[in-house]
Amino acid sequence: MIILKSPQEIAKIRAAGKIVAGAIEELKTRVRPGIKTKELDRIAEEFIHKKGGIPAFKGYRGYPNTLCISVNEEIVHGIPSDRVLEEGDIAGIDLGVLLDGYYGDAALTLPAGTISSQAKRLMETTEAALYKAIDAAVIGNRVSDIAHTIQSYVEGAGYSVVREFVGHGIGRSLHEDPPVPNFGEPGQGPQLREGMVLAIEPMVNAGRSDLFVLENGWTAVTKDRSLSAHFEHTVAVTKNGPLILTVL
Ligand code: MF3
Ligand code: CO
Repeated sequence: MIILKSPQEIAKIRAAGKIVAGAIEELKTRVRPGIKTKELDRIAEEFIHKKGGIPAFKGYRGYPNTLCISVNEEIVHGIPSDRVLEEGDIAGIDLGVLLDGYYGDAALTLPAGTISSQAKRLMETTEAALYKAIDAAVIGNRVSDIAHTIQSYVEGAGYSVVREFVGHGIGRSLHEDPPVPNFGEPGQGPQLREGMVLAIEPMVNAGRSDLFVLENGWTAVTKDRSLSAHFEHTVAVTKNGPLILTVL
């Protein structure tokens, strides 16, 4: 069941999203060669608490941390650890915040130092796919129009989209209906309506789309060990078009 949100509720998701965006700004200045991923986690957790929010992922189905940090061939759900970022790494950082009963959720992929031109193009393509998908989050379109926009753009660039993980509705729960896949034929699934709030999150692999999950039970890795990138925003469907809620 899709729960439509009032303007007042969208404002609350926006407030949670503002904390998400603030934490991301902080992390952008800290991601570089030499930093431990658990140090980034601590910085984000402190920032969120200072702003009065609650990290959304910590404790969710037993997930241990505030951030997911997925490095290079890791796709999503990398667990912060003593791993030190190295020159040329790309780090997908995903975070959610609960504030006043509502969730915001966003992700981006950041470079550690100087990265290869291949890594840069993968990141740019994934981010561009997210913004094209957001442009498709308009009343009258259907959920799969978002999905198809992502898939056709990504595959047109010679990359593949991950199928096992999808975007989602968001609000009083981190994950609500509808699922928002990153692949599919256009014109399918629920119609987008005013008050729908969606977390749109393309995960793009430089090589094949196949993945496996590490022994930790969380971290998804490309089967062919190719690089992967992830970008996400929480977006409201409004009469005036898509409204990104996870911004400053
Ligand atoms: N952005 C991801 C999602 O919405 C991150 C979830 S990580 C988890 O599904 F730890 F909370 F599961
Ligand atoms: Co999400």
